[in-house]
Amino acid sequence: MTDLDPRALRHAFGAFATGVTVVTTRQPDGTPRGFTANSFTSVSLDPPLLLVCLAKTAHSADVFATAPHFAVSVLAENQKAVSGLFASRAPDKFDQCAWTPGPADMPLIDGALARFTCARHQLVDAGDHLILIGRIEHFATAEGQPLGYFRGNYFSVGIEKDLAEAAAATKGSRLGAVLACNGGVLLKHEGDQLCLPLSPHPTLDSLTAKLTALGLAPEIDFVYAAFDDRSTGGHAVYYHGQVSVGQVSVGQVSGGQVSGPLPPDYRIVPLADLATARIANPAEAQMLARYADDFRNGSFSIYHGTETTGQTRQIGA
Ligand SMILES: Cc1cc2nc3c(=O)[nH]c(=O)nc-3n(C[C@H](O)[C@H](O)[C@H](O)COP(=O)(O)O)c2cc1C
Repeated sequence: MTDLDPRALRHAFGAFATGVTVVTTRQPDGTPRGFTANSFTSVSLDPPLLLVCLAKTAHSADVFATAPHFAVSVLAENQKAVSGLFASRAPDKFDQCAWTPGPADMPLIDGALARFTCARHQLVDAGDHLILIGRIEHFATAEGQPLGYFRGNYFSVGIEKDLAEAAAATKGSRLGAVLACNGGVLLKHEGDQLCLPLSPHPTLDSLTAKLTALGLAPEIDFVYAAFDDRSTGGHAVYYHGQVSVGQVSVGQVSGGQVSGPLPPDYRIVPLADLATARIANPAEAQMLARYADDFRNGSFSIYHGTETTGQTRQIGA
């Protein structure tokens, strides 16, 4: 026992962003076993060593502690479900994903970015975990983007380049924000239609300054969409964030109308009304429909592409 708060310590450990791996082996009767691990570390080139830490409470702890071989598959960004599967205690994990027996008959996860087959080199007893140190006998790599893990959420690392390029190209183009406020989204009237708040200049500072001047307290948290908008002939970047409006409570939002001190021409449209709201720009209308879905699913994704076709990438809950 120590006087360190284990929850706080777990949170501090979570500040270290990692990739995600699935560690596999076979039990003596040949049944494949595996678990998800982000504790993977490369250790040595000469001799070639790696390690993973395995909780002593894991169902498969005894099997891994005695198995002469194990393998590590580094997951790609589209393998979140595989990570979830091997983090579960499902008895039939290997029936639910694609895998192939590799060297030493070790199960290797199909589609992984890197796969290492190891002979057990050393087993270190370390508190409530075992450190499995493997001597790499075979390995293979593939091109692609990795699955990332940070503070309990998965993330994609491959998207920043696209976003940075789109953001850099926003000169003369549009920069706006999807701003959550009291159970709805902040929109601005444009005649009898609505639009998202836009920045006068395509920089985040300019957006923040505009919202602040309107008496809103913006808290911008991530890029929500970056796309080529062919309907307006430019790039568009939309941030996601929150604004708070003095004295407006959820109860004051009824039928999309707010009686609180919102700036003139602005209103908060409840999530349930977004699908039917008269949004002037079709790309914004699509984005808001996606936003309502993301909100319902409790998990946000970044969109990039064009105003009509593109990809979304999950960025966490
Ligand atoms: C992203 C992620 C990373 C994980 N990393 C580890 C790890 O490094 N070591 C570990 O023992 N468990 C880790 N876990 C938890 C195990 O995957 C989980 O306890 C699993 O049920 C163990 O399988 P088993 O009980 O069938 O052996 C992780 C889970 C997730 C979702």
